[in-house]
Amino acid sequence: MSNTKHSTATTAVYGSEEMVRPAPTMTIPEDMTTPEIAYRMVKDETYAQTQPRLNLATFVTTYMDEYATKLMNEAIAMNYIDQTEYPRVAVMTSRCINILANLWNTPERGDSKTGALGIGSSEACMLGGVAAWLRWRKRRMAEGKPVNKPNLVMSAGMQVVWEKFCQLWQIELRQVPLTREKRTLCPKDAIAHCDENTICVVPIAGVTWTGLNDDIEALDKELDEYNKKTGYDIPIHVDAASGGFILPFIYPDKKWDFRLKWVISISTSGHKFGLVYPGLGWVIWRDKSYLPDEMSFSVNYLGAEVTQVGLNFSRPAAQVLGQYYNFIRLGREGYRRVQQNSMEIARYCHRRIGQMECFENYSQEVVNPLFVWHLNEEYTKRAMWTLYDLQALLQQSGWMVPAYSLPKDIDDIVVMRIVVRQGMSRDMADMLLRDIENGVAELNKLKYPTSSRQAFEKQEKQKGKIYTH
Ligand SMILES: Cc1ncc(COP(=O)(O)O)c(C=O)c1O
Repeated sequence: MSNTKHSTATTAVYGSEEMVRPAPTMTIPEDMTTPEIAYRMVKDETYAQTQPRLNLATFVTTYMDEYATKLMNEAIAMNYIDQTEYPRVAVMTSRCINILANLWNTPERGDSKTGALGIGSSEACMLGGVAAWLRWRKRRMAEGKPVNKPNLVMSAGMQVVWEKFCQLWQIELRQVPLTREKRTLCPKDAIAHCDENTICVVPIAGVTWTGLNDDIEALDKELDEYNKKTGYDIPIHVDAASGGFILPFIYPDKKWDFRLKWVISISTSGHKFGLVYPGLGWVIWRDKSYLPDEMSFSVNYLGAEVTQVGLNFSRPAAQVLGQYYNFIRLGREGYRRVQQNSMEIARYCHRRIGQMECFENYSQEVVNPLFVWHLNEEYTKRAMWTLYDLQALLQQSGWMVPAYSLPKDIDDIVVMRIVVRQGMSRDMADMLLRDIENGVAELNKLKYPTSSRQAFEKQEKQKGKIYTH
């Protein structure tokens, strides 16, 4: 028994004992705390964090309108998997799958398209990858060929989920290098990495590191020739974590989806440009023949036979309501306008940053509402600071604008990235640009190199490059 005095509902929160004791970090407290105090302790713990909408590092939705928020809050206790209790959630999920499949020009006929939901793109990518692996295995086994050396081909600009997938399923990850000349996946190079053990090639629509798009149409063409020549049938899974909700609205005529012969599955994040709060991902297959039966699992103890494709079991249902709400509320035109505005603000920031004396944009084009830039040659030689210093300065005004080095082979380029999402207005963009200009002016006054600049110079010295100030 503990001898702790109880705080009561009449104790002022900040007059309570709990507020002068360290917060629990290792063991569960012996006794209870009033809800008001517990709420404050948890809430206060989050105070020092960045304002979500000033976080330009994330792709994930940080703004939904009041009705969407109300709908999702009201569904907070709903468990997606309890389909007998919440049968309409299962119906809405199927509707979302149908809508997405049609948005991506599925050739599948009938009222029910083939897809699944996940917690995010990570789960959706894994499901697409597992299906490709199982199809490959089945075919190889039918031919009496070994199945112990599967591989997957994609560019070095991949997101970490593919490393996880390959590691967890023991698949060889063949990375096609990116270079200064080849800034997205080179289709010919991708083919050169393929062989009979390739389970799929994964191009990216909206490369995490740069915001660029792999040329999926060109890849499909190369793969078609290669498959014809070799007799293989290596498919494409498109990782459209960002692009899945940009391409259909901004570039409806661009072929990247099921209009292409070898695109067999596509994944996206409902919680990125699908405009839903986290966590929601979707994967769609070209038709049900591409979803191996082994990926469906049934249980009978939820009040009916419930069959599901997914890595999770219980998960929140609120995001499905949010996605379906967005489809009804926005429609094609609403999505187009929101994405168009994000594109316009991203292009505006890109132009203004490109005009600043010290910067150079990594690419001339902005194809998704995000872009990266770096210090120009002159500043790389003589500045006393690096983009990591600018990141830290911007953080002081609440902005999270990440600086990082690009993937291997181009990892000597340190860039900064802005992801423009719903919730970023032109006015906010102007505030950010002013803060960047002011930050640069401050940094330019430095008489001695910052520690990150010193580290950079040390690294460059090892490569034989000497900078003098
Ligand atoms: C190209 C790409 N694939 C996959 C992912 C993983 O997405 P999620 O965070 O929805 O799991 C991301 C996340 O940024 C991404 O950019």
